[in-house]
Amino acid sequence: MKDYTFDDYRKMIEDHLMDFIPDVDHKSITLYESMKYSLTSGGKRIRPVLLLAACDFCGGNVKEALPYACAVEYIHTYSLIHDDLPCMDDDDLRRGMPTNHKVYGEAMATLAGDGLQSAAFEVMSRDMLFYFDDDKALKRRVRAAYEICKGAGCRGIVAGQVADISVEDQSCSSEMLDYIHLTKTSALIVAAVRAGARLGDADEDTLEDLTVYAENLGLAFQIRDDILDVEGSEEEMGKKSGMDSVNKKATYPSINGLEESKERLKTLTEVAMDALGKYYDNAEVFVKLAKDLAIRAR
Ligand code: IPE
Ligand code: IPE
Ligand code: MG
Ligand code: MG
Ligand code: MG
Repeated sequence: MKDYTFDDYRKMIEDHLMDFIPDVDHKSITLYESMKYSLTSGGKRIRPVLLLAACDFCGGNVKEALPYACAVEYIHTYSLIHDDLPCMDDDDLRRGMPTNHKVYGEAMATLAGDGLQSAAFEVMSRDMLFYFDDDKALKRRVRAAYEICKGAGCRGIVAGQVADISVEDQSCSSEMLDYIHLTKTSALIVAAVRAGARLGDADEDTLEDLTVYAENLGLAFQIRDDILDVEGSEEEMGKKSGMDSVNKKATYPSINGLEESKERLKTLTEVAMDALGKYYDNAEVFVKLAKDLAIRAR
């Protein structure tokens, strides 16, 4: 693994995030502006960083992984735009700025989300076309794209969002709560890590270790998000706190209490880090990321 830090990977994403957005006809310029508004409004870029780090970890070429990393961030950003809509969580603030629909209206926000999602699939398939005659390179890319499509789709984010709204205002079992968090949040984090590993042509054992890391990290990440909704401040998070209780969401603190949620967060973070313990210093980026996320304030 090269000596890249989280910030190095993050800069690569920031520098190229708009490069892969397909050219938009000037008649659709508002669509482009609306997509750009949400894409460039900040964000921690955790998922694309994980993809690049996993590719690097497995010996792949980080620059060649950029279209896939950006695709993951397009999908994540679309999911946030739709998540904030009045018909979903009805939020006014995201990444410290008015939510997309507050600026562009609900219809354009919905379409910007659609545009971002299809841009993700376009950028990946365009990249695959470049490698059409190179069987090995193409195979790695097809496998990576499959991971990303699966994480985004009706067994991933979409399933999780459906389950999330279906239990609003209702009792929810611990099993259902884990299902929601594993699908709406962990699935794309797992997809990012596995896609990076696929691009780096990981062997099955490494892929499995990275998957255990990502699944636990993803679950821990959403639990921390739930805790921040109770304890965090609007200034730090760039989004309104207390909205989960307003929307009567099933969250870790609402079902298990704050203390138990913090314990689970700690355990999951440790399991995530342990999964990569045998790789020692080579897995430093992943271990540091897990530690930082467990105490993140935004
Ligand atoms: C927010 O994700 C949605 C959740 C899954 C909790 P992030 O906390 O990664 O959001 P950004 O991209 O940094 O704004
Ligand atoms: C979001 O979960 C999961 C997504 C798939 C977008 P939340 O609804 O808790 O995310 P925030 O708190 O609005 O960022
Ligand atoms: Mg939500
Ligand atoms: Mg929300
Ligand atoms: Mg939340």
